[in-house]
Amino acid sequence: MKTLNLPCFLSLFYLFVCVVRSQNVLDITTLGAKPNGDATQGLVAAWKQACAAAAPTKILVPAGDYMLNAIKFTGPCKSPVTIEIAGNFKAPADPAQMKGEDTWVKIENIQGLTVNCLPTGGTFDGQGQMAWKQNNCAKTGTCDNLPYNFRFNSLTNSKISGIKSLNSKLYHMGVLSCKNFTLFDTTIEAPKDSLNTDGIHIGRSAGIFVTKAKIGTGDDCISMGDGAVDVHIEDVTCGPGHGISIGSLGRYDKEAPVTGVTVKKCTISDTENGIRIKSWLNSFVATASDLHFEDITVKNVLTPILIDQEYCPYNHCKAKTPSKVKLSNISFKNIRGTAGSKEAVKILCSSGAPCDKVELADIDLTFSGGPVVSMCKNVKPITSGKQNPVACGAPAPAGP
Ligand SMILES: *[C@@H]1O[C@H](CO)[C@@H](O)[C@H](O)[C@H]1NC(C)=O
Ligand SMILES: *[C@@H]1O[C@H](CO)[C@@H](O)[C@H](O)[C@H]1NC(C)=O
Repeated sequence: MKTLNLPCFLSLFYLFVCVVRSQNVLDITTLGAKPNGDATQGLVAAWKQACAAAAPTKILVPAGDYMLNAIKFTGPCKSPVTIEIAGNFKAPADPAQMKGEDTWVKIENIQGLTVNCLPTGGTFDGQGQMAWKQNNCAKTGTCDNLPYNFRFNSLTNSKISGIKSLNSKLYHMGVLSCKNFTLFDTTIEAPKDSLNTDGIHIGRSAGIFVTKAKIGTGDDCISMGDGAVDVHIEDVTCGPGHGISIGSLGRYDKEAPVTGVTVKKCTISDTENGIRIKSWLNSFVATASDLHFEDITVKNVLTPILIDQEYCPYNHCKAKTPSKVKLSNISFKNIRGTAGSKEAVKILCSSGAPCDKVELADIDLTFSGGPVVSMCKNVKPITSGKQNPVACGAPAPAGP
């Protein structure tokens, strides 16, 4: 054939496009990963290709149980990448095998990442049992020698759905410097007595959505640190653990403000605290504002509502001067259920920076061992609707 007519040429062109398109699905089992074997090299190879590809690429993790060592998915990538996970992963049990890495799965510096876990897949078991025995945070006052299960750093316009994080050696997930980042339908589990296995810690990020999650750990279910802005937490079941926290704030100089946090439609069970905002004694200057908690059901939570500006864990703060963290525009609306102690509401603000505009609306808490009480310090809450316990009805403990 001497000449190629136009329709024929076009159909060849489309065939070519189709072939190129179908090559943009990368199955890790064609790149060296084997179910019941190690997936690390296969995933590294798939990521390298996907992130460098000019067209959007999907990485597939077929069903199966894989071992996975510490791994990094780093951008920027040329096009959006999707990872679809039907398989399940286990980390090395011995932290020494992770060669001092601060994270098992680190995902960073990417725009437009989508991770979809299928219902039977997406389990990441950190196998932390051995690590918890080595945890010495209480002795040193800092926690930096064991790896998190996940760190999401500098992710923009990205979404992770259906991930299941188990038995992390330290925190399960860190979210840092992210913008417009969603964690949807997340499961996080570690035993109640595991040390510092916080669920999700969010810091220095804006536009974070944690929607639909089931979290039970040995520490905070969700915590927000400095620079958490525009954070929306909804439909979360939390417990066991320490509840949902903002802080501890003010430990370091020049912390960025925390502002615009909403937590709604959550159920918190068998935890130490429900909603907690804490700042250090002897702190630096910092602020947290526009923090709203609504439609929260508690079950057997020691202290369902807690503002604690006298935070000093392990007795590691040297002086006992009042916190300089200013808290303002905070509301607790429709908070109901059972407390695990009579001290159901404690709003202990700092004499060095009294709280402004704290609102309590429709609070209805009970304790099986007697009447519940509410105590306040350096704050005059605005109340409306039902108030059980009577707002600020009991004397607060003395303090700085
Ligand atoms: C936020 O990210 C999602 C992807 O998770 C994207 O669909 C959406 O357009 C982004 N929103 C903005 C305002 O960029
Ligand atoms: C309080 O927070 C809400 C919600 O973020 C905001 O719309 C409102 O303007 C804030 N009020 C004050 C007085 O800052």
